[in-house]
Amino acid sequence: MSGKFYITTPIYYVNDQPHLGHAYTTILADVLARYHRTLGDEVHFLTGTDEHGLKVQQAAQQRGADPQAHTDEYVQRFVEMWQRLDISHDDFIRTTEERHKVVVRRLLTNLHDKEKIYLDEYEGLYSVSEERFITEREMESGEFRQVEKIKESNWFFRMSNYQQQLIDHINEHPEFIQPKHRRNEVLGFLRQPLSDLCISRPKSRLEWGIELPFDSDYVTYVWFDALTNYISAIGYTADEAEFARWWPAEYHLIGKDILTTHCVYWPTMLMAAGVALPKTIFAHGWWMMDEGKMSKSVGNVVRPLDLIDQVGVDPVRYYLMRDMVLGQDANFTADSFVRRYNADLANDLGNLVNRVAKFIRRHFEGQVPKPVVAPDLAHDEELKALAAETVAEVPGLIESMKLHEAVKQGMALVRWVNGYLEKCQPWHQIKDDPTLAGSTLYHAAEALRLALLLLHPVMPQRVGLMLGMIGAGALPLTDFTWGGLKPGTPLGEGESPFPRLDKLAVGEPPADDGLITFDDFEQVDLRVARVLAAERVEGADKLLKLQVDSGDGKRQIIAGIAQHYDPADLPGKSIVVVANLKPAKIRGEESQGMLLAAEDGNTLVVATLEDADVAPGTKVG
Ligand code: MSP
Repeated sequence: MSGKFYITTPIYYVNDQPHLGHAYTTILADVLARYHRTLGDEVHFLTGTDEHGLKVQQAAQQRGADPQAHTDEYVQRFVEMWQRLDISHDDFIRTTEERHKVVVRRLLTNLHDKEKIYLDEYEGLYSVSEERFITEREMESGEFRQVEKIKESNWFFRMSNYQQQLIDHINEHPEFIQPKHRRNEVLGFLRQPLSDLCISRPKSRLEWGIELPFDSDYVTYVWFDALTNYISAIGYTADEAEFARWWPAEYHLIGKDILTTHCVYWPTMLMAAGVALPKTIFAHGWWMMDEGKMSKSVGNVVRPLDLIDQVGVDPVRYYLMRDMVLGQDANFTADSFVRRYNADLANDLGNLVNRVAKFIRRHFEGQVPKPVVAPDLAHDEELKALAAETVAEVPGLIESMKLHEAVKQGMALVRWVNGYLEKCQPWHQIKDDPTLAGSTLYHAAEALRLALLLLHPVMPQRVGLMLGMIGAGALPLTDFTWGGLKPGTPLGEGESPFPRLDKLAVGEPPADDGLITFDDFEQVDLRVARVLAAERVEGADKLLKLQVDSGDGKRQIIAGIAQHYDPADLPGKSIVVVANLKPAKIRGEESQGMLLAAEDGNTLVVATLEDADVAPGTKVG
C-alpha cells in the first residue's frame, strides 16, 4: 500500500456513558489504523466528542453546572475508555474547542456570503427529544417524543441544490458509500425531492452551541457543527499544508444509524463549500443484545469495562473484530464470547505459543534454535508457502474491509502451525536428532511470528507479549518476510497468555432479588453509641433529638421514636447506630446517623445493649 490513510470515527455525544457500541466503532478504526501503519501507510486517526446541543445544556442545568465545565468533566469518560481499550488515535477533537468553532464559523460565513444559506419562516413538527424537525410520517410512527408544532424563523442551507450532483457522485463512485446495501438505501432516500436543511436554532430555545457569525440570535444546528469536525481537526482554513496532507479522508466509519447525516448532509455541505468529498463512508451494523439494539434507554448495554475487568482488553477487541461481519448486525452473548475465547485464544493460540516457548526453553537453553534446510523437509516447505500466502492475502482483505476474514486468516495460520507440529513431532525428533527438532521449532516459531504480526493490530498487548515469548520481541512489526527470527535470540518471559474462561458476566446487574451480598452488608458501619441527652424536636410530634457518644465523638441523631419513648428515659442507654450514613436534614435538624429499632406498626423498641460495659464506638456485626 504505502500512501496516506486518514480515518475517522463518529464523534460521540459527550453525555453518553461509553458502551460497547461506541467501543466497537473506535476499536474498528483503531485496528484499521494499526494495520495501515504496519503496511507502511502514513496514518491519521481521528476521534472525539460531540459537545453542543440541548441535551448537554439540560444535563448541565440539572447538575447546576456550567455546560463547559460539565463537558470538560464528561469527556474524560471517553478519554479514559480509549486509553483502557488501547486506542491509538492521533487526534481527539472536541466540538467546544476553539480550533473547531473557528472553522464552523468560517464555513458558515463562506456559505452565507455565497448565498447558500438563507433566512426563512418555517412551521413544522419539532421533536424536542431528538432536537430536530420531523415529518408528518415520522410523527405517525410514534417513535418521537415531546413533539411540538413550532413556527419560527430559521436559517436554511440550500441542500436541495445539490441533490443531482450527489446522486451522480454516488453513481460514479461505487466505493463512496459502503457496504452496497447502504448505498442503495441512500439512493432510495434521494429519489424523493431533497429539502433544504435547517441549520440554526434560536437562542431562545438553545444557547449551548456555536453562534451564527451573521446572526447572533441563533446558534448552529448540532449536526452541521459536528460533521465539520472531520475537516476542522486537520486544519481546514487554518493550516493549508496539513489539510492538503490528509484530506480527503479514506474512511469515515459510522454506524448505520447515522447514514443520512453522513451521506446526504455532509457531502452536500462539502459540495457547497467547494471541498472534495471523502473517499468512503462505511456504515457498520449494530451490536445487538438479546436481539435488541444495545442502548441506554433499553437498559441492555454491555459495559466494556466490565468485560475488560474479567478478561483483559485484547480478548474483547478480538471478539468484536472476529464476530461481526462488517456491515451486518451481530448479537453479543456471553456464551458466544466464552466459546470464541476458549476455542481461538486459549486453545489454539495461547496453547501453541506456550508449547513452543516451553519446548525451546527446555531443550535449547531458551534461545531460538537454528533452521536446517534440506530437500526432504516437505512439511517445512509447505508451512513456509502457507505463511507467505496468508501474509500476501491479508492486505487485500483489509483494503476490502473484510476484517473478520483477515483475523480468521491469521488464526488459520496458527492452526497450521499446530498441525505442522503434530506432523513433525519434535518431541520424538529430539531424542534421535536434536538438530532436526531445533529446525522444526524454528519453523514453528517463525510461522507463528508471522501469524502474530497479522493479529497484532487486533490484540496489541498480548501479541506483544507472545512475540517476546518466541524471541521476536525486538523485531519490527512490519517485517513480514520469512527468516526474520534470528537463531540464538533469547526468549522473553511469559506464560499462558489466555487462561481458560469458565463464564462471563455481561449486561446490567441481575434483577434485584431482594438479597444483598456480604460485601454490601460490610459497607454498613454499625457502632455502639451511648445516649448522652434527648429532647423533643419542636413542631414534630414523632421526632426526638438525641446527642450520643459514638466513640469517635459526639453526634446528633434525629429519630422517629417520640411516640414510644420519654426523652428522660434514654440517657445512659447503649444503642446501635449506623455510623457511616451521609448526614441528612430532618425538619431542619441535622441527623448524623440512624439508630436501630424494632417496629411493627404499634410498638417500637430501640435496640439496646443490656450489658452497658460495651464501650461506645464498638463495632456491631
Ligand atoms: N454524535 C453523533 C455522531 C456525530 S458524527 C459527526 C452520534 N453519537 S453517538 O454517541 O450516539 O453514537 C455514535 C456511534 O456509536 C454510532 O454511529 C455507532 O457507530 C456507534 N454505536 C452506538 N450504538 C451502537 C451499537 N449498539 N452497535 C454498534 N455501534 C453503535 O450519533
